[in-house]
Amino acid sequence: MTKIWANYDVDLHLHLDRPAGGTSLRGSRVRARLESALREAVRSGQLVPGTRLPASRVLATDLGLARNTVADAYGQLVAEGWLEARTGSGTWVTQRPAVDARETSPLAADPAIPRYDLRAGIPAASIFPRTHWLAASRAALAEADDAVLGYPDPRGLPQLRTALAGYLARTRGVVVRPGQVIICAGFSHGLALVCQVLSERGGMTIAAEAYGHLAHRRIALASGLQVVPLPVDKDGAVPAGQAEPGSNAVAALLTPAHQYPLGMTLAPQRRAAFLRWAAESGGVLIEDDYDGEFRFDRQPVGAMQALAPDRVVYAGTASKSLAPGLRLGWLVVPAPMIDEVVAVKETSGFHNGALDQLTLASLISSGGYDRQVRQSRLTYRRRRDRLIFELARHAPGVRLSGIAAGLHAVAELPAGRTEDDVIASAARHGVAVDGLSAYAFAGQQHGPALVVGYARPAEHAFSTALSRLCAALAG
Ligand SMILES: Cc1ncc(COP(=O)(O)O)c(C=O)c1O
Repeated sequence: MTKIWANYDVDLHLHLDRPAGGTSLRGSRVRARLESALREAVRSGQLVPGTRLPASRVLATDLGLARNTVADAYGQLVAEGWLEARTGSGTWVTQRPAVDARETSPLAADPAIPRYDLRAGIPAASIFPRTHWLAASRAALAEADDAVLGYPDPRGLPQLRTALAGYLARTRGVVVRPGQVIICAGFSHGLALVCQVLSERGGMTIAAEAYGHLAHRRIALASGLQVVPLPVDKDGAVPAGQAEPGSNAVAALLTPAHQYPLGMTLAPQRRAAFLRWAAESGGVLIEDDYDGEFRFDRQPVGAMQALAPDRVVYAGTASKSLAPGLRLGWLVVPAPMIDEVVAVKETSGFHNGALDQLTLASLISSGGYDRQVRQSRLTYRRRRDRLIFELARHAPGVRLSGIAAGLHAVAELPAGRTEDDVIASAARHGVAVDGLSAYAFAGQQHGPALVVGYARPAEHAFSTALSRLCAALAG
C-alpha cells in the first residue's frame, strides 16, 4: 500500500479530567492524565494506527500544558508501544498487527461477507483504474477555478454534462444536449428523482419489468407510486396490462439493452409498442442502461431513447463501468421535464461532489473512460467464457442464458434441484450466489435458476470461485 507521509498536525480532541474549581493541573498528575487520555484514544480507535500526532509544542499550546509534559507523555507511550517516534518525522500511532486491525474493521469482522462472491451487480474492484483516476483527479483539480469549490450547480457541473453528452451520443446513440444531462448519485438516485416528479404530477402507478432489482421497486414505492409488473418473455418486456393503451400507468421502467437479470434485448417490435403506448398515453419510459457498454457478441444495442427523445428518460451509471462506490450516474431528461427533476433534486439535499464530477469529466475527455470500458469488456468477456466452459464441463445439466452481454448470466438448474438447495450448497463451499426468485415480482412462475455474477471476485480468486460453484451444482 502507498503511504503518504503528511507533514501536518492532526486535530486531536483529548478529554483531560481536570480538578473541580478551575485548579490547574501540575507535574506528574497532569502527565499521568494525558498519558491515560492518549492510551484511551488509541485503544478506542479514536486515534487509528498510522496517525501522526501533533508536535508536542502544538499539543501543549492546545491543552495549556508545558511542552515537556507532553513530550514526556509521548515518551512514556512510545516505551509502552502505543506510539512510535520516527526520527525527523514526529510521533505516530503504532501500526499494530493484523489481529488488531480485524478488531476495529467492521468489514473484516462481518461474517456475512462470503469468501467467493458471485452475486450480480458489482464490477471487479481489482480493475478499477486507480492510476488513471488519480491522474484525472490531479489534472482536474489543477485546472479548476475557485468557483468549483463553491456550491455546485444542482444539475451537475457543466464540464461533466458536456463530456457525458458527447460520450453518450457517440457510444450509445443517445440524442442529447448537455443541458438535458442531470448528474445524480447513481441510477437509484436518478430513479428516485423521476419517480418523485411523476408522483408530484399526480401519477399513481408505474409499470416495471416482472424481473428486476428489488431496490428499484422499493424506490418507486417510496415515492408513493404503485408498482405493477410487466411480463417478460424471450423478446423482453411485454407492453401489457398497465402499460398498454387505456391503462393508468404513468411510466414504464425498462432495461432494453440487457434485461436485468434475464439478459435478453428488448426486441424492435416491443420497443415500437412501448413507444406507441408512451406517445398515446403521455406516459414516460425510463430506460435503465446500466451495462449497455458491455456487449460481447455483436454491435452494441443502441439506446431506445434515440427513437423518442421526448418520451424517454435515459439513465446511465458509473456503477458498472467504474465502481458503485463513486455514486455517479446521469439522466438525460426530455426538455419539458428538466425543471421538475432539478427542483426535486434541489430539495432532496443530495448533490454530487464537484471534484469527483470533474475527475470523471477529465477521464472521459482524455479517452481514459473509453479505455477502461474496453478493458473491462475484455475482462468480463473472458470471465463469461470461463463460466460457460467450466459449467459445460462440470455441470452439463445447467443451461446458461443471458450471456451476450453484461456482468452476469442466468444458470437454469437441472430437474430435481431447487434454488434453495443449490444456494445452501454454494454457501457451504464459501460461495454467495442468488436465485432468480430474488429478482422476481411476487407470483412470477419460473424454473429454478441462479443469477451468477462473474465480475466481483478478484482475478486471482475467480478460478476457485468457479470450481466451488461447479462443486455446489454437482452435489
Ligand atoms: C438493473 C440495474 N440498474 C442500475 C444499477 C446501478 O445502480 P446504481 O447506479 O444506483 O449503483 C444496478 C446495480 O446493481 C442494476 O442492477
